[in-house]
Amino acid sequence: MKIFVDSANLVEIEEALERGFPSGITTNPSILAKEEKADFREHINKIIELVQRSGYDIPLSVEVFSTRPEEMITQAEDFVRHFGHYPQLNVKIPVGWDELAVIRELRLRGIRVNCTCCMSYGQAVMAAAAGANYVSLFYGRIRDIGYDAASVVREVRATFRERNTPCEIIVGSIRHIADISESFQAGADIVTVPAKFFRPMVSHPKTDEAVRQFVTDFQKWMQ
Ligand code: E4P
Repeated sequence: MKIFVDSANLVEIEEALERGFPSGITTNPSILAKEEKADFREHINKIIELVQRSGYDIPLSVEVFSTRPEEMITQAEDFVRHFGHYPQLNVKIPVGWDELAVIRELRLRGIRVNCTCCMSYGQAVMAAAAGANYVSLFYGRIRDIGYDAASVVREVRATFRERNTPCEIIVGSIRHIADISESFQAGADIVTVPAKFFRPMVSHPKTDEAVRQFVTDFQKWMQ
């Protein structure tokens, strides 16, 4: 059970890293576009520096920003040139017919691939068969189109297990805290979570009540 940070925000990433729980980081072009306008490569390198400075060696996914297969390969090579000093770099390639060839080509070149934007069983198993190291299933978006996202995760998990597929399932597009536990129950290896959910995940009013009571009782007894 691994939790990734679904963010490109340096403060959010640092706050998570300080707390010891992240096993990876995922970004995408929309997530990066939320940050202050900057040189994209410099920003990714700042994330890498932060991760290394914090003593972590965890996967970082960076997504191509083109819909043309040849350009995806060029961008992936560019990522390797600029971020390849970080061995845990994964290039995110959206799933699709022509994109399967991109995945295969990148894997042949020794580049790790996170196949993203998967909404169905078929997409995930095809991407894994093409050589993807990770498939990212979009929980919230699958539900938006009326499907049972947990069933999709469960079915992909069952097939990967039966076939001994060396591909990890990332569940992203998390919209509610309950999505995280449902995803793990359904068999996700990893859930990538927006930072806004981390604090609520470890908070509970009954915990606060218990802690307050213990401190108050002890202070009274000490007087
Ligand atoms: C996962 O890797 C994606 O970055 C992300 O979870 C997409 O989710 P969205 O539906 O919020 O765009």
